[in-house]
Amino acid sequence: MQYRAFGQLDWQVSALGFGCARFPTANDKPFAAEIREPEAIAMLHYAIDHGVNYIDTAYVYHEGNSELLVGRALQGGYRARVRLATKSPIWLIERPEDFDRYLTEQLRKLQTEQIDFYLLHGLNQKGWRKVQELDLLSSAERAIADGRIGWLGFSFHDSCEVFQQIVDGYARWTFCQFIYNFLDVEKEAGARGLKYAASKGLAIVVMEPVQGGKITDPPRPLQEVWNSVPAARTPAALALQWVWDHPEVAVALSGMSTLRQVEENVASADLSVASPLTVDELALLARVRGAC
Ligand SMILES: NC(=O)c1ccc[n+]([C@@H]2O[C@H](COP(=O)([O-])OP(=O)(O)OC[C@H]3O[C@@H](n4cnc5c(N)ncnc54)[C@H](OP(=O)(O)O)[C@@H]3O)[C@@H](O)[C@H]2O)c1
Repeated sequence: MQYRAFGQLDWQVSALGFGCARFPTANDKPFAAEIREPEAIAMLHYAIDHGVNYIDTAYVYHEGNSELLVGRALQGGYRARVRLATKSPIWLIERPEDFDRYLTEQLRKLQTEQIDFYLLHGLNQKGWRKVQELDLLSSAERAIADGRIGWLGFSFHDSCEVFQQIVDGYARWTFCQFIYNFLDVEKEAGARGLKYAASKGLAIVVMEPVQGGKITDPPRPLQEVWNSVPAARTPAALALQWVWDHPEVAVALSGMSTLRQVEENVASADLSVASPLTVDELALLARVRGAC
C-alpha cells in the first residue's frame, strides 16, 4: 500500500480508503439494508490486511446497517489498525442536543470509544446555515475535548462558492470530503475547491472517484470509446490513478461491492506512486470525457 500525507496531521493515510456505502446486499440492490455480512466483512478484512487504514461510513448508509456492520467487522483487533470516519446526519438534526444523541448512538453501533474523523454530512448552503443557527460546531468541539471525536471535517454537495464559505467559516476543520473524478472536474467543489482547501491546509478526501460506478459501467457509445484503444489498465484503475495523480488528494474513497473490486483497487493503490497516467492514457480519458 502507498501512504500519503493527511493534511497537517502527523499521520499517513492509505491511498485507498474503504467507502462503506456499497456493500454487497441480499438482493443486489445498491444501498439496501440487507448487507451480505460474511462477504462484506471478508472485503473489509482483505482491505485492512493489505494496508487500507481509512474506513468511511455514515449514519444513513445501508439504512443504518453500515455502521453496525463496520462495528462488528472491526472486532478482533481490526479497530486498532484503522482510523474510522463517520458522519453526523445534519438534515435529521432539529435541536442542538440531537448532535450528541446521534453521536452516542454511532459510538455504540461502531463499538468504539472514539470516532477518529467525524464529518458533518453532505453540507450545502442550507445545512451550513443550520450548523450555525444550532451552534453545532460548539457541540463538536465539546466532543473533541472529551475524546468522543478525534478530528472534525465535512462532506459537501453544493457550489464551489459555498464550499469556500464553509472552508473559511471555521478555523479548525481538519479535512473535507467531496466528489472528484476525471469526468467531474468542475462539479460542486471541483478542481477549484481542491486547490482552495489544499491551500488552507485541509486534508482532502475524495469520494466517487469512479463516478459512483458510472465510469465502470458506461452506456454502449461510451464503452466503444473505452474499447477504441487496447488499454493495460481497466477504467476503474485509470479513474483512480487520475485522482491519485493530484498531490493535493490525501485519500480516494472507493465504494466496492465485490471482493474482486477490492483486490483490484488495492493492487491499483499499490502502484499509485510508481505509475502515473501516461500521455496515451490521458488522451484516452480526454476522449471519454469528450464523448460524455
Ligand atoms: N458524504 C457524502 O455525501 C458521500 C456521497 C457519496 C459517497 N460517499 C463516500 O464515498 C465513497 C465512494 O463513493 P461511491 O461509492 O459513491 O462512488 P465510487 O467509489 O465512485 O463508485 C462505487 C462503485 O464503482 C464500482 N467499482 C468500484 N471499483 C470497481 C472496480 N475495480 N471495477 C469495477 N467497478 C468498480 C462499483 O459499482 P457496482 O457496485 O455497480 O459494481 C461500486 O459500487 C462511498 O462509498 C461513501 O463512503 C460520501
